[in-house]
Amino acid sequence: MEYPVTTELPFDSPGYIDALAHFYDDWANRLATLAATEDVVVLCEGDPFFYGSFMHLHSRLQGRVPVEVIPGITGMTGCWNATDTPITWGDDVLTVLMGTLPEEDLVRHMANADALVVMKTGRNIPRIRRALERAGRLHAAWLVERGTMPGQRVARLADVDPADVPYFAIVLVHGHGRRPELPE
Ligand SMILES: C[S@@+](CC[C@H](N)C(=O)[O-])C[C@H]1O[C@@H](n2cnc3c(N)ncnc32)[C@H](O)[C@@H]1O
Repeated sequence: MEYPVTTELPFDSPGYIDALAHFYDDWANRLATLAATEDVVVLCEGDPFFYGSFMHLHSRLQGRVPVEVIPGITGMTGCWNATDTPITWGDDVLTVLMGTLPEEDLVRHMANADALVVMKTGRNIPRIRRALERAGRLHAAWLVERGTMPGQRVARLADVDPADVPYFAIVLVHGHGRRPELPE
């Protein structure tokens, strides 16, 4: 399946809707036809039901062919393990945000979050960075690029060139909750 969109457009923008208008219908039909004669495997990155585009096919295939979804390990799980630091402790609330959200929404959620994950970063990094700064969280923010993949990179977000962030990149702020006191 060759996707017509690979950048991080807001899901409700006209460009996104136009580009994907027929794509999922077309591929749901093609997969349903194929599945009549053979088993079909759709490989997904991370977990198919976690902000995954497979969900658009899954809903279109309901009642047409049986679909079994195998749970996957989310990209964010790989990313926080790449930082070698727990993401949540004790009663931390983990907030997962999409970098496509408007800046005001990002600031509001970031300010209230204990632990924080921001996905769909890519070209949205400058806005995400501004929002973290306004919420007072930039100093604690990490960027993980290509988590668990070849070329994985972990860096403090404040040190990263915002013009050079790939599609597979997640921003993390670790929670502190009831973290045990560690010796200095
Ligand atoms: C459409 S979402 C799909 C999420 C996927 N279903 C999952 O379970 O992680 C794509 C976004 O997930 C994030 N992402 C997924 N895997 C990643 C990885 N291995 N490293 C860094 N970011 C990743 C990126 O922010 C990317 O823009």
